[in-house]
Amino acid sequence: MTLDKAAVGPDWDSLYATRMKRVAPSEIRERMRLINQHSLIHLGGGLPDPAIFAYDLLAEASAAILGDPARARLALQYAPSEGHLPLREWLTGYMASLGVPCGIENIVITNGSQQALDLIGKMLLDPGDVAAVEMPSFIGALRAFDAYQPQYIAIPEDTTATGATLAGAKLAYAGPDFRNPTGTTLTRAEREGLLTLAAAAGTPIVEDSCYEKLRFVGETIPSLLALGVARTGSIENAGVLYTGTFSKTIAPSLRVGWVAGPAAAVRKLTLLKQASDLATSALNQMVLLDVVRDHLDSEAVRMSAVYAERCGSMLDALARHMPADVSWTRPEGGLYVWVLLPEGMDGSRFAERALVERGVSTISGAAFYPSDPRKNTIRLSFSLASVQDAAEGIRRIAELVEEMRG
Ligand SMILES: Cc1ncc(COP(=O)(O)O)c(C=O)c1O
Repeated sequence: MTLDKAAVGPDWDSLYATRMKRVAPSEIRERMRLINQHSLIHLGGGLPDPAIFAYDLLAEASAAILGDPARARLALQYAPSEGHLPLREWLTGYMASLGVPCGIENIVITNGSQQALDLIGKMLLDPGDVAAVEMPSFIGALRAFDAYQPQYIAIPEDTTATGATLAGAKLAYAGPDFRNPTGTTLTRAEREGLLTLAAAAGTPIVEDSCYEKLRFVGETIPSLLALGVARTGSIENAGVLYTGTFSKTIAPSLRVGWVAGPAAAVRKLTLLKQASDLATSALNQMVLLDVVRDHLDSEAVRMSAVYAERCGSMLDALARHMPADVSWTRPEGGLYVWVLLPEGMDGSRFAERALVERGVSTISGAAFYPSDPRKNTIRLSFSLASVQDAAEGIRRIAELVEEMRG
């Protein structure tokens, strides 16, 4: 019997657009599906800890908005594509406090900073264009840019070295503070170096400021955008698109982030945003505004204190248990520690065995490189596991290092 075509349906594989070749599941998302397994020690995904979200503040703000008919009507209606005006106005004040005077025309609200990265890729990248990224880089940015089919080059590790260049790149994506995945921070000199390279190449910097407010050690360093404004006098000429988010300081499910940048680019991003999803939830933006107006700093301080303690105990456990040929970064904030396993040890295999044999989730570092990964790496997150669990998790994976060496 031959099946007639209508009964089998379309041949999906032959229909996908070329860009789908690069759209692949992320190891992190796959591992996050395991998140409900109770016995696991979670050192893998970088989810903020839901035990420390500001439930009372969010409940109070939601009730006040929905309990007031005039505000409720606004909250349940479509918001403008560029975002809820009072939130954008508040953000101009917030950006000014970071050394970035700007107007509402410089701010567009997005569904988290992830959507901002997607829209920026869509705005700037044609197939084959060059995107300069840190190696390793935030996997969500790579996946967002992948759909626009760029070629990747590495942002020079030493931005001040002779011959360092970004020439030809349509964008340079950088995470200046406690970046995902390495937990490392660009010094002020490195930021200035990157701005100089970008200006020389005419390349816009995409500054992912996701973790900026989660500093728990050391002095705040001005953002690339703030330094760009200081050099050029205005956000219009600073050459930086800054992506911000409330996911790590208030709650990720609200999906509220923003882009701050030159008005013309912000207008283009708003048009793309409109075509993509019309607008971010008005209710979520209004709730957030009610909370952040008075509590953003105290919430960031409260959360940073929790992560600081967990980070400290993870670093202590690493020092206590890991052999001498394993090294790791010492973050000044954020959620991540990057571990260099002994030379020749495969991080993917290691992460697999840690999960299956030791009940510890980690992420293989290779996932964070667009190509030529440094294979003996893993990323650990101290966001979720208790101090005791993290110490136990590190003890177990240190044993695994010895076992895999043998
Ligand atoms: C570096 C970085 N940028 C952006 C995001 C996306 O965050 P959101 O879309 O929730 O703002 C994340 C999430 O983990 C991240 O680590």
